[in-house]
Amino acid sequence: MALLFLRLGASIALLLALSTLVPSSDAYDPLDPGGNITIKWDVMEWNPDGYTAVVSLYNYQQYRHIQLPGWKLSWVWQKKEIIWKMFGGQTTEQGDCSKFKAEIPHCCKRDPEIVDLLPGAPYGTQFANCCRGGVLNSWAQDSANAVASFKVVVGQAGTSNKTVKVPSSFTLRAPGPGYTCGPAKVVSPTKFISPDGRRSTQAHATWNVTCTYSQFVARRSPTCCVSLSSFYNDTIVNCPTCSCGCQNNNSKPGSCVEGNSPYLASVVNGQSASSLEPLVECTSHMCPIRVHWHVKVNYKDYWRVKITVTNFNYRMNYSQWNLVAQHPNFNNLTTIFSFNYKPLSPYGTINDTAMLWGIKYYNDMLVTAGPDGNVQSELLFRKEPGAFTFQKGWAFPRRVYFNGDNCVMPPPDAYPWLPNASPRFSASLTLTLVTVGTAMAFLLVHV
Ligand SMILES: *[C@@H]1O[C@H](CO)[C@@H](O)[C@H](O)[C@H]1NC(C)=O
Ligand SMILES: *[C@@H]1O[C@H](CO)[C@@H](O)[C@H](O)[C@H]1NC(C)=O
Ligand SMILES: *[C@@H]1O[C@H](CO)[C@@H](O)[C@H](O)[C@H]1NC(C)=O
Ligand SMILES: *[C@@H]1O[C@H](CO)[C@@H](O)[C@H](O)[C@H]1NC(C)=O
Ligand SMILES: *[C@@H]1O[C@H](CO)[C@@H](O)[C@H](O)[C@H]1NC(C)=O
Ligand SMILES: *[C@@H]1O[C@H](CO)[C@@H](O)[C@H](O)[C@H]1NC(C)=O
Ligand SMILES: *[C@@H]1O[C@H](CO)[C@@H](O)[C@H](O)[C@H]1NC(C)=O
Ligand SMILES: *[C@@H]1O[C@H](CO)[C@@H](O)[C@H](O)[C@H]1NC(C)=O
Repeated sequence: MALLFLRLGASIALLLALSTLVPSSDAYDPLDPGGNITIKWDVMEWNPDGYTAVVSLYNYQQYRHIQLPGWKLSWVWQKKEIIWKMFGGQTTEQGDCSKFKAEIPHCCKRDPEIVDLLPGAPYGTQFANCCRGGVLNSWAQDSANAVASFKVVVGQAGTSNKTVKVPSSFTLRAPGPGYTCGPAKVVSPTKFISPDGRRSTQAHATWNVTCTYSQFVARRSPTCCVSLSSFYNDTIVNCPTCSCGCQNNNSKPGSCVEGNSPYLASVVNGQSASSLEPLVECTSHMCPIRVHWHVKVNYKDYWRVKITVTNFNYRMNYSQWNLVAQHPNFNNLTTIFSFNYKPLSPYGTINDTAMLWGIKYYNDMLVTAGPDGNVQSELLFRKEPGAFTFQKGWAFPRRVYFNGDNCVMPPPDAYPWLPNASPRFSASLTLTLVTVGTAMAFLLVHV
């Protein structure tokens, strides 16, 4: 397939290559084409003035999770609905409930915003899959903790499937922007199977909402970059300059801190310490995260890569971090040290994408910038005869994601060369052609 595309005119290929570099507002992620968070709203029973529903968030994304301080979900009621009670979650504001005398509702806002409860919430307020402080793990990494649920008792609502109104304008924040939710759709009612499997009950009505993530919607600047090196060339190819922003001491003083600054502690713990904005160490790339791929050893039948992920952010411990890397030799990965591994085959037949993450209690937490702010692993690949080569940057990854965000790669013509390699231009052009050809093959398979 790739060969076929090599015959395409170079101009078309270059155009396509350019279009893949430009960020798109489209939420489509080629390495996780079906990835979404589905919100399911099950009306479980009718009450005198409304109904009780169980609302669940399913994170079907393979490698994108929501970490602390957690998700926030909001919607807009269509009638005069209020929330009498909630279990396994709470609204951030009560709103104006001054009209109520006897029983005071939990929330009277037209656009309530829900957050998860914290771990250890009192027993009477809990609900299944609740109380993780809004953390929602990814499907591939930890599907048992990829679902969150809460129960809501709705008043002043319809009391039958004919009079009830589906809420609109669902908004999911994580807790910043990034997700876009579609309209709620009436779907066939959820069936609940009894534990012994001999009886099923069903919801009175079920509505589904699908939310998808886009890095473009989330924040325009990237959050990580890739640097490269190899045993066969002394050059270390650094992250592209200004990958995630530029050091700008004049227009934006304090955009970064020097690692050895005597003021470091005071800046890190300063007033804006709780801000979600990263506070990075001053580097040429200014990224919170750098992924380094080192081609370490060449054996007869195998070759070895060392991966180091470094945290330059003084404000973030990355718990449950993950890395996704695409390289054609992942179908022959033989051994991986000190990381968990799961192959992702977004297109079924092509097995070139790997998800890597830390081992529980050992390195699943990537701590803040400083001497301990890194995690490392080594990968052993079996050489595939015919495909394997150190030429033309083949040994380097095609794409890298950290926590679901695409990392900025050095340009292919900067990759470390083999001594006496063919001239720079043809090497990089061929690589581009192969990459684009493979991408096209994916698209064709997918369509
Ligand atoms: C959401 O993800 C699930 C699981 O991958 C998939 O079955 C479903 O079709 C997706 N929904 C949409 C609307 O893409
Ligand atoms: C109400 O039930 C009918 C029949 O089961 C179904 O066709 C309709 O979509 C339901 N409406 C809602 C809002 O759930
Ligand atoms: C609604 O969402 C639930 C949970 O993700 C899923 O099991 C169900 O298939 C969805 N229904 C439709 C029609 O997409
Ligand atoms: C930035 O400015 C501060 C004070 O204005 C100065 O102390 C610091 O050295 C400058 N940093 C850089 C990288 O120029
Ligand atoms: C990171 O974790 C360490 C150890 O658990 C803790 O002392 C530190 O306050 C955390 N830093 C941040 C920014 O959360
Ligand atoms: C992909 O390759 C890896 C490593 O050889 C193997 O363990 C895995 O089973 C393969 N997965 C698929 C879906 O073929
Ligand atoms: C590499 O993986 C492919 C696909 O999984 C398999 O057909 C091939 O035999 C493997 N090569 C080696 C040398 O193990
Ligand atoms: C190493 O690779 C760089 C390109 O990154 C190239 O400029 C240099 O000549 C190479 N060194 C050798 C010894 O080939």
